[in-house]
Amino acid sequence: MTDSVSIEVDENVLLITLNRPEKKNALTMEMYGAVEQALRRAEQESGIKVVVLTGAGDLFCAGNDIADFLSATADFKDSPVNRFLHRIASTDIPILAAVNGHAVGIGTTMLMHFEKVYAVETALFSTPFVSLGLVPEAASSLLMPKVLGYQRAARMLVLGESLSAAGAMACGLVSEVCLPDKLLETVMADAKKIAKLPKSAMRTAKRLMRRGEEPLDKRINFEMDEFAAALQSPEAQEAMLAFMEKRPVDFSQFD
Ligand code: COA
Repeated sequence: MTDSVSIEVDENVLLITLNRPEKKNALTMEMYGAVEQALRRAEQESGIKVVVLTGAGDLFCAGNDIADFLSATADFKDSPVNRFLHRIASTDIPILAAVNGHAVGIGTTMLMHFEKVYAVETALFSTPFVSLGLVPEAASSLLMPKVLGYQRAARMLVLGESLSAAGAMACGLVSEVCLPDKLLETVMADAKKIAKLPKSAMRTAKRLMRRGEEPLDKRINFEMDEFAAALQSPEAQEAMLAFMEKRPVDFSQFD
């Protein structure tokens, strides 16, 4: 375990804080490992329904630790960074990001995998891979054009331009801009509200959205199987009964 990532549970929310402010939360192999493990814990622990990720200090994340890059071998396949990347791409737990300052490299590309991004007004999103002689990672060459549009993504990934919080909001990457001293409070309050939704339906919805392109008929059939199973779930029964009985719905009994 590393002290550079802190983990807290608050109600049904798992809060992960990149906690290496003296190095602007640059991610070491140990930190990738700790975040990946925390996400696995969130998937497995029944009381956890939402994850929030933020950074300590004045920056969200300065990207991969450059000293780690210098000592990297050619084989990344069995590395913590590879496991982290596959976990953020495959987890079905909803993830919210509280971007408290600059988000560089993986600090930006990881956001494409999350459900909701909040940022401070001074946040700057940048992916300077090419200027380091590197290339895009974390499926960003696929996801950034989808999220931002081709030219906006190419300006970042190919030409090395940055994106401001206002620009990121205009593109839809950021959903809310907050004052620095209100950021975490706002995100945690929202996460707790989201955590009141039925967990299995949320997770199935995320899994459905993660499926790759496929013929519509195939997708309709696949959704229908999941829908039929969801219809029989205690959560759906509770939601429909609550509606019929004109009372507030309560999913907490299923947490
Ligand atoms: N890897 C390793 N160390 C890093 C780092 C990184 N990615 N980013 C910052 N640091 C370290 C600095 O070396 C410095 O360490 P020191 O105090 O021992 O000298 C410390 O963090 C503070 O960084 P500094 O550059 O003084 O902070 P800043 O606020 O002026 O600038 C950044 C912040 C993020 C703009 C700047 O540090 C930067 O450009 N970092 C590199 C980002 C990058 O290229 N990441 C890889 C992307 S693929």
